[in-house]
Amino acid sequence: MDQLHRLPETGIDKNEVLRMMTAAKSNDAKWRQGKAWSLVYYAGEEHSQFVQEAYKLFFAENGLNPMAFRSLKQFEAEVVQMTAALFHGDTDVVGTMTSGGTESVLMAVKTYRDLARARRHGGKTPNVIVPESAHVAFDKAGSYFDVKIVHAPLTNEFRVDTDAVRRLIDRNTILLVGSAPSYPHGMVDNIAELSEIALRKKLPLHVDACLGGFFLPFLEKLGRTVPVFDFRLPGVTSISADLHKYGYSAKGSSLIIYRCMKILQHQFFIYENWPGGIFASPAMLGTRPGGAIAAAWAAMHSLGESGYKELVQQVMETTQKLLDGIHTIPELELIGQPDMSIFAYCSRSPDVNIYAVGDELEKRGWHIDRQQRPETIHATVTPAHATVVSQYLSDLKSAVAYVKQHPELSTTGGAAMYGMIAHLPLRSMVKSSVGKMMENMYGTEGKLPEASDQPSGFTMKIGSFFLKLLYALKK
Ligand SMILES: Cc1ncc(COP(=O)(O)O)c(C=O)c1O
Repeated sequence: MDQLHRLPETGIDKNEVLRMMTAAKSNDAKWRQGKAWSLVYYAGEEHSQFVQEAYKLFFAENGLNPMAFRSLKQFEAEVVQMTAALFHGDTDVVGTMTSGGTESVLMAVKTYRDLARARRHGGKTPNVIVPESAHVAFDKAGSYFDVKIVHAPLTNEFRVDTDAVRRLIDRNTILLVGSAPSYPHGMVDNIAELSEIALRKKLPLHVDACLGGFFLPFLEKLGRTVPVFDFRLPGVTSISADLHKYGYSAKGSSLIIYRCMKILQHQFFIYENWPGGIFASPAMLGTRPGGAIAAAWAAMHSLGESGYKELVQQVMETTQKLLDGIHTIPELELIGQPDMSIFAYCSRSPDVNIYAVGDELEKRGWHIDRQQRPETIHATVTPAHATVVSQYLSDLKSAVAYVKQHPELSTTGGAAMYGMIAHLPLRSMVKSSVGKMMENMYGTEGKLPEASDQPSGFTMKIGSFFLKLLYALKK
């Protein structure tokens, strides 16, 4: 085993520590320059510095105890109320902040599981019907909370097939889910129809607006026709929305909002017999970073409706330019007709492997997200992309042309591996191999994928495992 990294015997000079950290960052995705198409939502340096200031003001405070930090409780209540108003909720609408979209989704599944239990509904194996394109956090929730997640297929418009949802409902169904929009394709599901189904079947309906919650309402205010996804639809019982995405707040802030306290009360955890005292907490975390709550309040107050509208306008203009550019590349095809600023494109040419295009883009400095089923390249457009549209499109054109001239690229390197993983029928083997990777990454040796494994060492290694496996089987 390599020598363990140890706590230095005496402290290192602070400037030196900061220098070491800055150096460690040098190979990270260049999001400030618009080179990353996910993970960071950057509304410019001025806004970012301001949010950091707000975070710093409450850096040490803990949202766990609202009695000790009444300021944080007030901020949280106001963030919830402002968002509820944005979603056309009435005065009964209530909610809590969480640490992110995943926690909001986890809480939705747990809350409705417990609501169903209280109503003696759902049997031993309650199920939740989610679109195939719903965020994977629902599958995580199913696995954590012992709830079966049933995936409803999509229409060829890449929205959930509501007829299929109707057919999938059985006596153990406790919840329906729609996305506004979905992460993989940027499409808003037909929430109006899901709402009708939910009302008819007397089921709750959760809308995952982690991406669209702080985007679609402003797009609508700008005069665009936007599919209704919020409390205007009587069947919608809760909505999740991420402040740390298009809310442009600090990482670690999201919301889950319910139509009424009768539902939210099932989210709370209360244990009255703990020797440490009677314990009550609203969501998953114990200690809750005060900075994240404060920064969300600050971001919403400083941007206001006009600030969000301006950002949405800018992001939509950038998105349109990107989509127009992609339409001019005959080898590429957009997936569906995205409702906002998130989209995916695939190859329509047998000569162009989309994963190989991804590899070429990465060689040109872009951080690319690849998807499967269908195989696509994904993009989440943010204000940081306004100045890189022409560079991206010209790199994309040259990447496509290069891949077309070099068909061998689809059978080598990253493209071959991603392709193989996407097509491997033995999904459980993919899973166990990824499990091994996780053990390596989080084990005592803490082996991170090598930088030389770029574009994504993690996936590459899984791929190389399967390449070896395939060769072994062929022999
Ligand atoms: C629609 C949707 N829901 C939930 C999540 C999970 O959010 P987080 O990564 O903040 O946990 C995401 C993340 O991209 C998302 O796109």
